[in-house]
Amino acid sequence: MKGAFISFEGIEGTGKSTQVRLLAEALRRRGLQVTETAEPGGTPISLKIRQLLLSLDSRGMSPVTELLLYNAARVQHIGEVIMPALKRGEIVITDRFSDSTVAYQGYGRNIDLKLIASLDAIATEGLRPDLTLLLDIDVETGLRRNRDIGKTDRIETEEVSFHERVRKGFISLAALEPDRIRLVECSGSIEEVHQKTIPIVEDFLRMQGV
Ligand code: TMP
Repeated sequence: MKGAFISFEGIEGTGKSTQVRLLAEALRRRGLQVTETAEPGGTPISLKIRQLLLSLDSRGMSPVTELLLYNAARVQHIGEVIMPALKRGEIVITDRFSDSTVAYQGYGRNIDLKLIASLDAIATEGLRPDLTLLLDIDVETGLRRNRDIGKTDRIETEEVSFHERVRKGFISLAALEPDRIRLVECSGSIEEVHQKTIPIVEDFLRMQGV
């Protein structure tokens, strides 16, 4: 089997992790080998970095420290989880990847996009998702959804204008790379959103010859 790398992206409260699980289950039912993973995370070291990044105790963290830590977590994740699974010919589905860094640290924190691209080249060595599903929702609804389930980490609790910039960043990225990044409006139910992702992924897999 030929491997494929799929990412889910989006602002807070789009239900990405649920959609990653549903898609992985749907693909496994067709007999495909799937690795489900998430950033920042996926490995013990990356999870420790995640705690540092998202803890409310890290409020004094500078934007560049934040940028470096997301990239550090990614290096471990690629080396320990993503590349080995792709080499085994599996489909890797990740909840977030480099596009989140462009959207959050670039558009959200206003770090120079060229600096972000240089660090990304070091961290990923050019690894890009083959397909990205960008789940989109309005900021207020997304933040409310997360508040309702008690999700209040350091990034989550940033002001609304920060999250608006992040959303704008994701939408700009989708406009730049329309073949890779497919926008999925996700204000409907979990099942409705899942049903929107399935034909996109089916088309993609057919094109990949999977
Ligand atoms: P989440 O995956 O539970 O949404 O938490 C990850 C948080 O980290 C989320 O607020 C988005 C943020 N993030 C960045 O700011 N930059 C990144 O590169 C990644 C992967 C995540």
